[in-house]
Amino acid sequence: MKKNKYFITLLRPYRYLIVGSIVSLIVFANLGLVLPWMLKIIIDRVLGASDLGLLYAILGSIVLIYAMRSIFFYMSHYFLFYISQRLMFDIRKKLFKHLQNLSLRFYTEYRAGKLISNVISDVARLEQMIFASLATVAMNTFVIVFITGVLFMMCPKIALICLILIPLQLVNFIYFRKIMQTQQIDLSEKMSEISANLAETINGVRVVKSFAKERTENRNFVSQLRPVLDLTININMNGVYLWILAELINIGCILVVLAAGGSMVMNGTMTIGEFVAFYTYLGMLLGPIVSISGLSTTISNGLAGASRIMKLLNTIPEIVECENPVALKEMNGGVSFKDVIFGYNGKSVIKHFSLDISPGQKIAFVGPSGSGKSTIANLLLRFYDVNSGSISVDGHDIRTLALESYREKIGVVLQEPFLFSGTIEENIAYARADASPDEILAAAKMANVEEFVKKLEKGYKTEIGENGAMLSGGQKQRIAIARSVLNNPKMLILDEATSALDTVSEYLVQDALDHLMKNRTTIIIAHRLSTVKNADLIVVMENGEIKQTGTHEALIKEEGVYRQMYMSQEEKAFRKITGKMIIDDIDDDFKEFPENNVFGEFEDEYEPDEKYDANKARLSGKRHAEVFKPVMGKTNINMKNSGMKADL
Ligand SMILES: Nc1ncnc2c1ncn2[C@@H]1O[C@H](COP(=O)(O)OP(=O)(O)OP(=O)(O)O)[C@@H](O)[C@H]1O
Ligand SMILES: [Mg+2]
Repeated sequence: MKKNKYFITLLRPYRYLIVGSIVSLIVFANLGLVLPWMLKIIIDRVLGASDLGLLYAILGSIVLIYAMRSIFFYMSHYFLFYISQRLMFDIRKKLFKHLQNLSLRFYTEYRAGKLISNVISDVARLEQMIFASLATVAMNTFVIVFITGVLFMMCPKIALICLILIPLQLVNFIYFRKIMQTQQIDLSEKMSEISANLAETINGVRVVKSFAKERTENRNFVSQLRPVLDLTININMNGVYLWILAELINIGCILVVLAAGGSMVMNGTMTIGEFVAFYTYLGMLLGPIVSISGLSTTISNGLAGASRIMKLLNTIPEIVECENPVALKEMNGGVSFKDVIFGYNGKSVIKHFSLDISPGQKIAFVGPSGSGKSTIANLLLRFYDVNSGSISVDGHDIRTLALESYREKIGVVLQEPFLFSGTIEENIAYARADASPDEILAAAKMANVEEFVKKLEKGYKTEIGENGAMLSGGQKQRIAIARSVLNNPKMLILDEATSALDTVSEYLVQDALDHLMKNRTTIIIAHRLSTVKNADLIVVMENGEIKQTGTHEALIKEEGVYRQMYMSQEEKAFRKITGKMIIDDIDDDFKEFPENNVFGEFEDEYEPDEKYDANKARLSGKRHAEVFKPVMGKTNINMKNSGMKADL
């Protein structure tokens, strides 16, 4: 019932239009009812008395009545279309706004395809229900009442018999409606499940193809589609049964009229005109009853849609602003985690986490996969609220801050950067719509986006496809970095922001980032320890707890996780590389290397057939060595024909 109440409040702004459309529909429908009466007059009075004047008068009134009917038809339908489309617009607007407010937790639980089906199909079903029920009910109830009155006036006896048959029609209607509504809910559920799976297979097409799972996916799709086929046929067939029964009841009525009316005409208690009019009115009565019965499918469809929309609208956003949120004008960037405990679904992920970060400090989080580094970033961005403890920024508990004013001061590069389809320029400008082209260019240069954009025919105007499908992982990351710095944020969160870059690009981007990090609180999350060496403080996490803190120099001296991680990464990277190496001929050159030479995985660093600009590698001193420290060997990558040459 609450559901109905909610939709009634949505209809409120259009109440006058609704009344207008109902009135014009009633007038439109009732104007059509005069025709049988005119027929009666023509048969009984014009034909019998050859009254030509009366005939012309009747014809004239028919023309007039039908002209008016057209006007009312136009008005009523314009109002109806307007109301129903406006309503659909309003609900979609509300739904979208609501979806934007829902927390990330909701999105991890609810599938995207289902949401799309809610916003598109369910709203359309609801709109159809409102349109059809308004039109059919408004038009037909009055017709039914009016005709019933006329029938009783003309011949109460036959009218009574017919009206006994009408409740049967209602029983028929209610019975099938119930069945069809349950089936319809089931069908919509199945359809939204299919649309969710469809969205997933389309997004995951690379995985499907690379595992050669096309046939399995086809089979899965068909196995989901099959029950829908059966169910849809079943629902439609129930509609057919309903219609057949309705027709049988109709025929019963017609037979009664023909038999009873015919004999009354024969014994003179009814005129021929009355008989024809009665029969025509009865025909006109049965039509509206059947069409009201036919509403059942549309109504059950609409109600099913409505209940899913309501379920969505009733989902309470987890992250809400407090009553009088503080709008952050300026941010210094001092952060304080106080005994934070957090878990996604009850399972503890962050345990008693306390840390103070001074404004402008550069903090690095390192630690094994799953240790909770990204979770700390999620909490700081208030994507989730802590279970206990608190996070404060500049002395304000972040739960007391106005969300928009807070988040817009933070620049974020998420672990899995997402880009919108559109141009490179549009994606960078996403952070700030009013950024000037110069500002966009400066951000792009800083993030080393310029380097690959130069080679593109359309430059910054290049369309990048869905989630940057036309770009490499590293290129996507660079755009994400440019986007995050465009806003000149006071705090930067870089979650594996440079992990997909090759060492040269990483060096260049890192250099720019180092420059940018000055005077900004920066949180860097990285697996490659070489990128966090010059952080002011390195926080080593394990199982949601801080294991060690300190600078690189201090931590490297300490026995512990950090040193182990560092050693294993360094060892992997290079032990001793001397002399010259021509990568082209790695197989041969490999032999020339000293026996104890351990090589790292080259795959991570360069695509085997990527053309490599050796000049770029000739940076300077230390970097030069770092660029080539992880070379091949163990992995036995065939670098022949790669055209790579490098001095070491
Ligand atoms: N949305 C989520 N719902 C439930 N559990 C989650 C969710 N996100 C992360 N987790 C769990 O929380 C733990 C910490 O995850 P988190 O992403 O913070 O790790 P991480 O340190 O960033 O790891 P990585 O280095 O691999 O990125 C993991 O055990 C993970 O399974
Ligand atoms: Mg992570």
